[in-house]
Amino acid sequence: MQKLNISVLGTGDMGSAIATAMSKRTGHSVRVRGSKAGSASAIKLSGELGVSEATEQDILDSDVVFVVVPAAAIPQAATTLSGYRGIVISVSVSGDVGRDGLPSSSENIAKALPGARVVNAFTSVWSNVVREPGKLEKTSVFVCSDDEEAKATIVELVKEAGFDPINGGKLAMALYAEAMGMFTVRLATDSGYGRTITFRAFQAV
Ligand SMILES: NC(=O)c1ccc[n+]([C@@H]2O[C@H](COP(=O)([O-])OP(=O)(O)OC[C@H]3O[C@@H](n4cnc5c(N)ncnc54)[C@H](OP(=O)(O)O)[C@@H]3O)[C@@H](O)[C@H]2O)c1
Repeated sequence: MQKLNISVLGTGDMGSAIATAMSKRTGHSVRVRGSKAGSASAIKLSGELGVSEATEQDILDSDVVFVVVPAAAIPQAATTLSGYRGIVISVSVSGDVGRDGLPSSSENIAKALPGARVVNAFTSVWSNVVREPGKLEKTSVFVCSDDEEAKATIVELVKEAGFDPINGGKLAMALYAEAMGMFTVRLATDSGYGRTITFRAFQAV
């Protein structure tokens, strides 16, 4: 796989886990960006990982941009990405996903960025598991997109980071991958499994 320039937009709990996984477990170039230039979380993370903070131009020049912001910040993230034509990995999940016919965050991003190649991935995985995938079994990462070439690139990236990619179908299926994210939150909290609970899909042959 060619070396990718990856930007991670969002440097909170999940963004920092993704940036850590990408910079420590893949051979790609990683930059990070918080809610604004010089954001304290981005400066701290870039220092910890030894990566640069991404400028607006770095983001637009990226091969892959992870969007890991709260769902309410998607319009602002879309403004930062205005005109971007590369691959966007949508990781954001709204607490209301799937309720009352609301679309997925991935579909909202695709609508806001018509030139971008939007892929949904990692929405059903806890940050703790992204950071420390564990040794017992590989976590499944569902990958959904209407762009098969972009999906194939992200399938390889997911593999490289130590997960088992599962073809989740078209971007319309992101709704269910995001709803699984909310289910994972409930399993961790209400059911008491904690933040290492994760999904593994397999064929029962
Ligand atoms: N936490 C998980 O395990 C997990 C798992 C799967 C999916 N997700 C999804 O990932 C998203 C982020 O979750 P989180 O837990 O990481 O939240 P978080 O800890 O609250 O962090 C949110 C981050 O988003 C940044 N941000 C806000 N607006 C931004 C913008 N317009 N452009 C760039 N960055 C912006 C904030 O930057 P500043 O620090 O500069 O304010 C902060 O670093 C959510 O949609 C969540 O549903 C989370």
